[in-house]
Amino acid sequence: MKPFDVYPIFDIEPVKAEGSYIWDAQGRQYLDLYGGHAVISIGHSHPHYVRALEEQLRQIAFYSNSVKIPIQNKLADLLGRLSGYEDYALFLVNSGAEANENALKLASFHTGRKKVISFHKSFHGRTSLAVAATDDPKIIAPVNSTENILFLPLNDEAALERHFSRDVCAVIVEGIQGVGGVQVPTERFLQKIRTLCDQSGAVMILDEVQSGYGRSGQFFAHQFAGVRPDLITVAKGMGNGYPIGGVLISPRFEARHSMLGTTFGGHYLACAAGIAVLEVIENENLIERAAEMGSYLMSEMTDFAHVREIRGKGLMIGVELDQPCAEVRRRLLVKHRMFTGASSDKNTLRILPALNLGRADANAFLQAFKYVLAAV
Ligand SMILES: Cc1ncc(COP(=O)(O)O)c(C=O)c1O
Repeated sequence: MKPFDVYPIFDIEPVKAEGSYIWDAQGRQYLDLYGGHAVISIGHSHPHYVRALEEQLRQIAFYSNSVKIPIQNKLADLLGRLSGYEDYALFLVNSGAEANENALKLASFHTGRKKVISFHKSFHGRTSLAVAATDDPKIIAPVNSTENILFLPLNDEAALERHFSRDVCAVIVEGIQGVGGVQVPTERFLQKIRTLCDQSGAVMILDEVQSGYGRSGQFFAHQFAGVRPDLITVAKGMGNGYPIGGVLISPRFEARHSMLGTTFGGHYLACAAGIAVLEVIENENLIERAAEMGSYLMSEMTDFAHVREIRGKGLMIGVELDQPCAEVRRRLLVKHRMFTGASSDKNTLRILPALNLGRADANAFLQAFKYVLAAV
């Protein structure tokens, strides 16, 4: 047997990682500006995180949700305090898709309705409902039903208003679209969704799987718009590599026994990882640092050759070129040993480093990027 090839594989075998660096089996050092799809939030192998996981592993690693697991309360308290959602409940799962799957299910349980509004270029994961709400026909299997999903253009308030009715179950929107090429919903658009959901009794779901956890320069990207969604989904940076996801659930929702469930979600190791990440975010002021470093990077890149548009907030940056970005990314990786990300828009590359990316590393990237762009 061999592993199924999930993504196109670069000919690199990482064997060690620390902070924003990765080393391969040949001992070559790489600068990581991608964090393995925006997962590395506090840097690879952060000492506080490693210690927390080691200590937890020695005590107890797993038991199911059929017993009391106080470490879940500690995680929920800390997440509530740092995000400003103290009054919400936290349902813990293992991935972003699972978080969205459960959020959509919860919205449907709550409203008794089926129609879901999603947006062009959205990505919500690969499980049944999450993939149906994703705007990419290539990844939707015949068994996935899309009959209840309506895709509208992002930031088109008139279209939203036109298609809103009292049969809408939920609107699901990313805080900032990531896979779609870093497309930012306007504050007005998010406010409009909130108003229409309030008027019709629909549920507003914010997918902060990629844009959350401080990456945008706020704890959640939607907080720039001052709206409070009913459900917020998180994963990726939440565990800094340890698989964990969650749904933040407004107090409006009543939990009915057995409505939601999971075997692995919320186990001790995942919670220990989640707590350590939040402690580092708080102790090292990573949200402010992401905002500052993001503004610096974006302002420095504006006059680089071939750059058509720079989008994003904080350290969630999309650089749209006037040509496909694959060759630029290849040269950055092979010649300059720097990881960057692609997106579903072939011209847009994504920069999603750890939130504590250092100034010297940012400058090294800027220099290499400028050089590569001038040469393509
Ligand atoms: C916005 C968003 N939602 C959901 C997901 C799915 O997360 P996962 O791969 O952990 O299932 C992703 C993954 O890229 C994402 O970017």
